[in-house]
Amino acid sequence: MIVLGIETSCDETAAAVIRSDDNGRSEILADVVLSQIEAHRPFGGIVPEVAARAHLEFADRVVKQAMAQAGLSFDQLDAVAATGGPGLIGGVIVGVMTAKAIAAAYTIPFVAVNHLEGHALTARLTNRVEFPYLLLLVSGGHSQLLSVRGVGDYTRLGTTIDDAVGEAFDKTAKMLGLGYPGGPPIEAAARSGDATRFELPRPLRGKPGCHFSFSGLKAAVKRAIDALPPGELQAQDVNDMAASFQAAVTDVIGERTKRAIHIFREQCPDAKTLVVAGGVAANTALRSRLEEITSAEGMALAAPPLRLCTDNGAMIAWAGIERLRLGQSDGLDFAPRPRWPLDPDAPKAAGAGVKA
Ligand code: KG4
Ligand code: ZN
Repeated sequence: MIVLGIETSCDETAAAVIRSDDNGRSEILADVVLSQIEAHRPFGGIVPEVAARAHLEFADRVVKQAMAQAGLSFDQLDAVAATGGPGLIGGVIVGVMTAKAIAAAYTIPFVAVNHLEGHALTARLTNRVEFPYLLLLVSGGHSQLLSVRGVGDYTRLGTTIDDAVGEAFDKTAKMLGLGYPGGPPIEAAARSGDATRFELPRPLRGKPGCHFSFSGLKAAVKRAIDALPPGELQAQDVNDMAASFQAAVTDVIGERTKRAIHIFREQCPDAKTLVVAGGVAANTALRSRLEEITSAEGMALAAPPLRLCTDNGAMIAWAGIERLRLGQSDGLDFAPRPRWPLDPDAPKAAGAGVKA
């Protein structure tokens, strides 16, 4: 089975082609990601209108490039998958329309993939992880702990009640005068910083359940910066704040994840793996904390290669393949969904608002 996957829900225009056989052998034949970071950098964050326009301009070209990289023509495809949501609706519409046009022109099935499901299932492609597993998804748009029992069978154990963790990295970086996206420069600055210099809160640590909260931490960073002597921030202040912030985030995510492991084990006693995905999974301090926790709990930690942790087309092609294998596909009347929770039955987390 050869499937094209298209991802346009945030600030990456991406397309990939995967070939997968019945014996579980799969190969990424092409993987093209066009990042819009430069277009959004002047604004210090993603501007939805800018994103939609860029997707419209580049989607066709990125798809064509992926097909060329795979050395295939469209009539060799068995199906086409695109992110159907959740995400910035302008971009999602562009990807869905592009995929539907290919499906209609070549009479092949179309699969509308939930972006979060794409992240959730990637480790099955890259690390051949078996169901069930616990997923920690930490990116610019999501902070979730999910139990993944099968394709389409998810229970949300925790989500953020305010900001996503990547957003907290980005906003903190902005306050410190570091670039966008904020994760990488914060991690770099933290290496030369003293994590004990600023006393920052660990929101929700020790509280029942495994939700996250990051807005209070962000506010505390602002207060601590405002309390410094007036004038330009000194390099040491920036490094110490980056280290203190990263330590707080690592502590909180570590504690929430440990709690989720215990809850997850009650549901699935023989579960063995924690999967971490999303852009923040690139953070080395977080990864080593998660390694400590999983080894103490007798679990394995699986992290897809970084390129496939952040948004990409391969995760969409792969989720499409998983759905097609179960005989599932979507009609061309599928309507893009700005919100599309993986676990629609999850009780609403207080203040969770727009976070799916
Ligand atoms: O998954 P992703 O590429 O896009 C979505 O949000 O879906 O994640 C981007 C986020 C940004 O907020 C960025 O600051 C964060 O991931 N990030 C990091 C690191 N690299 C990227 N956060 C912490 N440490 C990093 N090394
Ligand atoms: Zn994502």
